[in-house]
Amino acid sequence: MNTIDLKAEQQASLNRPRCTYTRAAKFFFASMDLVTGKGINLPKTLLIELLASIPYRAWELRMYSKLTFGYRNRQAIQKLIGIMEWSRAAQDNEYWHAQAIQEKMIEDGTKRPWYLLPPVTFFVVITYILFTRSMALFNLRRAFIFNAEFEDHAEHIYAQFVEENPQWKEQPVHQQVVLDRMEFANWSEVFCRIGLDEREHRDASFIEAGLPEQTVEQMTKDQ
Ligand SMILES: [Fe+2]
Ligand SMILES: [Fe+2]
Repeated sequence: MNTIDLKAEQQASLNRPRCTYTRAAKFFFASMDLVTGKGINLPKTLLIELLASIPYRAWELRMYSKLTFGYRNRQAIQKLIGIMEWSRAAQDNEYWHAQAIQEKMIEDGTKRPWYLLPPVTFFVVITYILFTRSMALFNLRRAFIFNAEFEDHAEHIYAQFVEENPQWKEQPVHQQVVLDRMEFANWSEVFCRIGLDEREHRDASFIEAGLPEQTVEQMTKDQ
């Protein structure tokens, strides 16, 4: 039983303007559109999800490195462990998004475009691993901000995607891997839940960047 009104949250995402993106984020989103096309579809969201877990893994590794060399600082390690635990949970959550989309593609018989060919995906993933690990190493705060922008973008993509696919409300979910997360009445709810997860990732990233005023919760309070 859902205690959250997923449809209301999806509408809230749709109605809330995107955050102001930095030039780096704009360039990243434009490059993504160049590869996948501007329209939203399952293969595009799958590519987003294959990338989405990567920054969290970079941070988990970075935190582990800091914990190894900074073990004497008992106060600092609590903060580092907090980021590491969040990063672990978030990357698992992102992988569940990828699994759910993969299941929907199989159900719908969706053809895989060229950018989901293994060598292409490999190249894109490796490039993003190098980018996120470098940022985690040299400028962790900037890494959190970039990720918050990535997540804000993803949240709006899913809100729009649900809007464009009203037929999902009539399509029940049978795949156990999707239902392992929670009970879903239909596929519309699955994609609303994914969008809400992205909002939570967005807000947590802004908090880690030291910008709590940018969280949706805070912005809603300020209105
Ligand atoms: Fe995701
Ligand atoms: Fe996310």
